[in-house]
Amino acid sequence: MAQKLIAGNWKSNGSLADLDAFINEISAAAGLLSRAEVVLCPPFVYLQNAVSLCGGHLAVGAQNCSMQGAGAFTGEVASEMLVDLGVQWVIVGHSERRELFGESDAVVLEKVKRALASGLKVMLCVGESLAQREQGDATRIVVKQLSVVLSELTSLESLVVAYEPVWAIGTGKTASAGDAQEMHAAIKAELLASGLKGASSVKVLYGGSVKGSNAAELFAQKDIDGALVGGASLKAKDFLAIIAES
Ligand code: PGA
Repeated sequence: MAQKLIAGNWKSNGSLADLDAFINEISAAAGLLSRAEVVLCPPFVYLQNAVSLCGGHLAVGAQNCSMQGAGAFTGEVASEMLVDLGVQWVIVGHSERRELFGESDAVVLEKVKRALASGLKVMLCVGESLAQREQGDATRIVVKQLSVVLSELTSLESLVVAYEPVWAIGTGKTASAGDAQEMHAAIKAELLASGLKGASSVKVLYGGSVKGSNAAELFAQKDIDGALVGGASLKAKDFLAIIAES
């Protein structure tokens, strides 16, 4: 079976000292680390340090990138700059970017295209709100978020999809393993239907209050290929507990 991909999204948290301690502790658990493909996504300003400290089974990702290339875009970070630093991954379309910073499906699409063209691997986040789930609209929303992006790509070889139900992020609520599996199967069906290169090997991660105590059940699902972890990625011990279940 393919290795699980487990990514830690620090969001706007942590310090240089935290990063140093975290990577030291994670790297010391080499046996555990080698079970999975692990990606750490700290804030932009810590990426360079992360790149110099990580390696082997621990890769580095950014949490966002610009939809533009280099130019007069104050405050933006172009994907080429991330590649220049040695960053391998970028998270695009996280629900906090969509909700708090107004990123539409069209913006997400531009970012994905830019990032892939620069040579980054992309974790594309999709997920429905609680209201959408309660209206029975979850699958339609998620498939639409995905299909907007698939419609303009030519290859899926550097893409990973992260299904993150918005109501499960940072709330302590997790989708049941069965509900998550059902959505992951729908996502994989949409990927396959695209007929794009690499579609059958795109990993689909689950995100939303993943922790050591629920990771095993999630990872046991046929179409759950790993996890995108927020809160439980801030402490090495908690993150390692998830990796241990992979
Ligand atoms: P959480 O966040 O694990 O804290 O719920 C997940 C995410 O936002 O990627």
